[in-house]
Amino acid sequence: MAAIPQVSLISCEKPMPVIGMGTSSYPPADFETAKTAILEAIKAGYRHFDTAFAYGSEKPLGEAIAEALRLGLIQSRDELFITTKLWCSFAQRDQIVPTCKMSLQNLKLDYVDLYLIHMPLRLSQMIQKTPVDEEIIHPLDVKGVWEGMEECQKLGLTKAIGVSNFSRQKLEEVLSIAKIPPAVNQVELNPVWQQKQLREFCKAKGIHITAYSPLGANNTKWGDNRIIESDVLADIAKARGKTTAQVALRWVYEQEVSLVTKSFNKERMKENLQIFDWSLSEEELDKISKLPQRKGVTLASILGPHDFVLQLDAEL
Ligand SMILES: NC(=O)c1ccc[n+]([C@@H]2O[C@H](COP(=O)([O-])OP(=O)(O)OC[C@H]3O[C@@H](n4cnc5c(N)ncnc54)[C@H](OP(=O)(O)O)[C@@H]3O)[C@@H](O)[C@H]2O)c1
Repeated sequence: MAAIPQVSLISCEKPMPVIGMGTSSYPPADFETAKTAILEAIKAGYRHFDTAFAYGSEKPLGEAIAEALRLGLIQSRDELFITTKLWCSFAQRDQIVPTCKMSLQNLKLDYVDLYLIHMPLRLSQMIQKTPVDEEIIHPLDVKGVWEGMEECQKLGLTKAIGVSNFSRQKLEEVLSIAKIPPAVNQVELNPVWQQKQLREFCKAKGIHITAYSPLGANNTKWGDNRIIESDVLADIAKARGKTTAQVALRWVYEQEVSLVTKSFNKERMKENLQIFDWSLSEEELDKISKLPQRKGVTLASILGPHDFVLQLDAEL
C-alpha cells in the first residue's frame, strides 16, 4: 500500500494523515462492533480517526486505542491523530473545557489532536433524538465559544482547534475575534457537492478543509446514493480498474483537502486506502467537475426544517 500523505495545519505542531476513518455509523453500531472495526482499521493502516460526542463512538474508539497499544499494533498513542467535536448542547463559554475533558475521559486520552465545534448553533437541552424542537435551537455565541476552544488548546487538552459545518460568513466571525485561528473546517465535500467557493476562501485564510461524507454517506439516514450510483464515476472507475468509491475519494484528495470516510467493512476500509498511487486525468477531472451539484447532508435534515436552521443551511 502506498504511504498515506500528511498535511500540516496552522497552529498545530503535529501533521494530520490526509485520510481518516469516520466513526459515525448508521444504524448506530454497538460498542463491540465499533471497537472491532476500529481495530481492523488500525491493522489496515489508518492512523487518523474522526469521532464526536454526538456519535457515541468516543468510548469504543478509546477502548480500541488501548487494545491496539496492548497488542503492539502501535507503540504509542502519539502515532494516532484523533479528532473529536464539541456537541451543540455544550456550546457555552463555561462548558467548553469541562466538555473537552469529558470527551478525553471517554477516549481514555490525555489530549486529542483536533477539537472541532460540531455545528454553528447552540442547543439549550441535551437531546436523545432528532429532529429537535425549535425552542431549544439558538445562535452560537461565537466569541465565548471560541475563547473556550482556545483555552482547551492552551491547556494542552488538544493540539489544534477548528470548526465544522461553518460557512464563509461564520468563519469570518471567528477570524475577527480569534487569537488562535481555526486550523480546520470539516464540511461535506464530494463530487456532487464540490464546495469550490468555500475551498477558495479557506485556502486564502490558511484554514484546512477536511471533507466529510466523501462517498455521499450512502446507505445512511443523512446521505444518499448519488455518488455510489453515479454512471459518470462508474465509467471512469471501469476504465481505470478502480471502484466508484476509489474514484470519488481520489477526486476529493486531488482538491487539496483531507477526508474522513467511514467503513466498518474490512475489505472496503482497505479499498478506500488505495487512492495514493494513481491520479485522475484532466479529462476525467473535467467530467467530474460537470456533475450536477446538490448538498446532501443538511442541518435541517438532522435538526428539523426550522427557520434558523434553514438559514444556516442556505449559507453553507
Ligand atoms: N462534522 C459533521 O457534521 C459530520 C457529518 C457527517 C459525517 N462526519 C464524519 O465523516 C465520516 C464519514 O462520512 P459519512 O460516514 O457520513 O459518509 P461516507 O464516508 O461518505 O460514507 C459512508 C458509507 O459508505 C459505505 N462505504 C464505505 N466505503 C465504501 C466503498 N468502498 N464502497 C461502497 N460503500 C462504501 C459505508 O458502509 P460500510 O461501513 O458498510 O462500508 C457507509 O454506509 C463520518 O463517519 C463522521 O466521522 C462528520
